[in-house]
Amino acid sequence: MAQPRTAGSGTGFPKPAEGSWTAHYPELGTEPLSYEDSVSPKFYQLERQAIFKRAWLNVGRVEQLPRNGSYFTKELAVANTSIVVVRGKDGKVRAFHNICRHRGNKLVWTDFPREETSGNCRHFVCKYHGWRYELDGSCSFVQQESEFFDLDKKDYGLVPVHCDVWGGFIFVNLDAQPQQTLRDFLGPMINAIEDYPYDKMTERFYYRAEVGANWKLFLDAFQEFYHAPVLHAKQSPVSARPEVQAAGYEGLHYQLDGPHRLVSTTTGRGWLMAPEDLKPMERVTRSGLFGAWDAPEIGELPSGLNPGGSKWWGQDSFQIWPNFVILFWERGWYLTYHYWPTSHNTHLFEGNLYFVPARNARERLAHEMAAVTFKEFALQDGNTLEATQIMLESRVVKAFPLNDQEILCRHLHKVTADWVDDYKRKRAEA
Ligand code: FES
Ligand SMILES: [Fe+2]
Repeated sequence: MAQPRTAGSGTGFPKPAEGSWTAHYPELGTEPLSYEDSVSPKFYQLERQAIFKRAWLNVGRVEQLPRNGSYFTKELAVANTSIVVVRGKDGKVRAFHNICRHRGNKLVWTDFPREETSGNCRHFVCKYHGWRYELDGSCSFVQQESEFFDLDKKDYGLVPVHCDVWGGFIFVNLDAQPQQTLRDFLGPMINAIEDYPYDKMTERFYYRAEVGANWKLFLDAFQEFYHAPVLHAKQSPVSARPEVQAAGYEGLHYQLDGPHRLVSTTTGRGWLMAPEDLKPMERVTRSGLFGAWDAPEIGELPSGLNPGGSKWWGQDSFQIWPNFVILFWERGWYLTYHYWPTSHNTHLFEGNLYFVPARNARERLAHEMAAVTFKEFALQDGNTLEATQIMLESRVVKAFPLNDQEILCRHLHKVTADWVDDYKRKRAEA
């Protein structure tokens, strides 16, 4: 459904130039875009160093560490490491490279060394020769210590990773010396959503999928809605109608802030739709297109939501550089996406849906319906990505035109190029 555009509200951000979002950010240009950054193995190697070893990365939420001694591991293939994130005896969240200082064994894993794990412990013990580490990373026991040569346990603590918490989200930075604090890195647009009641939404549905496409292609698929009425036409009786197909789709508001991006849109608003426009399952569960229809009581929302001030507001999709998305729905729930590269043409996609815990079976069913609908959409997107990757790799076509509502795709590829250029320049200087 086409909706009129709404200019920015009083959030301190500039209003878009009349008629064009892209033209408002002249540094983006309007030229056709190269997707070489998504097909080149060489460029991917640069991204690993320039982006994933220098940016703040979200690796989880504080609810995953409910007690002192709770921990989880995170495989970061893109940075060629595994980390362990743990809540210490002092309640503080810390992160360490998941490697034993004796002979390099992976310290924390359960049955399969390449799989992530979680749990609760008083200290970490290496499975190989039994060295022990406290939750603050210090080495506290070395088997047959006297047989080593001038070994001081103080010198053999776990290797720390910079770690900080924002809105309950745990971020790490693999740089030896991060260039910015987490909050400086996130900047005003993202910091304005820190006070969302994330802590109330502890009912979680989790998906993960290996996708045969570059990580940026999936980001692109979820940061424009131009494709929605076409690719997802069969999701709703309404979107299949000829007049809706002809009208296409317009986002409500686009905004850039440093390396981060936002798009706001309206949503299906199933609760306002005529019964014949809904699927029977949607009517029965009071859920679908998109999310549960009955909003929980979550109190006042942070000022950073709906920065365009649109009265048709249905959702905000905050694209947090480089690979983390938080999507807020008007009906009082949110979801997150993570895109973890595993090679130049593969990545691991993670989707999490967060709700205020259901109080009864009906609410739970509504949440489950939302989770299943989400999966259906994501599968349609995922399939298309592989088809896109295959043909981009042919390099038969080298430049692709992006329209005005694909501004965020344009921005993502520019920020990627800027970070890689910056890294190359600093490396050359060094
Ligand atoms: S490798 Fe960990 S104790 Fe030997
Ligand atoms: Fe989609």
